[in-house]
Amino acid sequence: MDTFLSKDEQVNEPRKKSKIALFGLAFTGSVAIGLSVVTASFVSPALRRICLPFVPATDNQIKNVLKLCNKCSSKNTLVDLGSGDGRIVHAASNHGYLATGYELNPWLVLYSKVYSSFNRIQNTNFQRMDLWKADLSKFDNIVIFGVADMMDELSVKLEKEMRADSRVLACRFDVQRWTPIEEIQDGIDSVWLYTKESFNKKK
Ligand SMILES: C[S@@+](CC[C@H](N)C(=O)[O-])C[C@H]1O[C@@H](n2cnc3c(N)ncnc32)[C@H](O)[C@@H]1O
Repeated sequence: MDTFLSKDEQVNEPRKKSKIALFGLAFTGSVAIGLSVVTASFVSPALRRICLPFVPATDNQIKNVLKLCNKCSSKNTLVDLGSGDGRIVHAASNHGYLATGYELNPWLVLYSKVYSSFNRIQNTNFQRMDLWKADLSKFDNIVIFGVADMMDELSVKLEKEMRADSRVLACRFDVQRWTPIEEIQDGIDSVWLYTKESFNKKK
């Protein structure tokens, strides 16, 4: 015990130190729990039946998506299935589309919404939604940057739900069961455009 301290101070000093230790413990514990909660949202896709991780679209890929979208000017709603940080939705909105992002990861949904507000991007709508449970019948353009394993299963859902005049834009991985109406072959930035006509031309 420090001999320069008064009797009162000598009694209170250990209490102060244990309070600081408790505060330190609570703080590091909260940070650890917070980090685990955030990272769990990014790791959990790996535990799903179909693993669809967050891999953002490249600028070139977005350019190719918009190029194919713009081929049909009268269509105005767009959904990105698994919208990640919202970059396709934001770009589509800047090109005049009423753009929706369905994303499972709540932190990416939050980020996308904050980005829209900060950059005053209008006509965007981000929702925490499982793409397998989403109603796809209300969109003119349906964008998917998925993985090869999911494209067959997704095409079955699209065949049931897609409207007669809607289009599907598949990024990086095509739908093997369908024949594209148009495509931009550009390595990992390739994009395929499908309509209902594509179903009748199954390979
Ligand atoms: C390859 S990333 C594409 C991100 C974005 N579309 C882009 O091009 O930048 C796939 C996204 O789908 C999300 N995802 C995975 N499974 C999902 C599901 N069942 N429903 C909705 N989103 C999902 C992931 O969290 C990830 O952000």
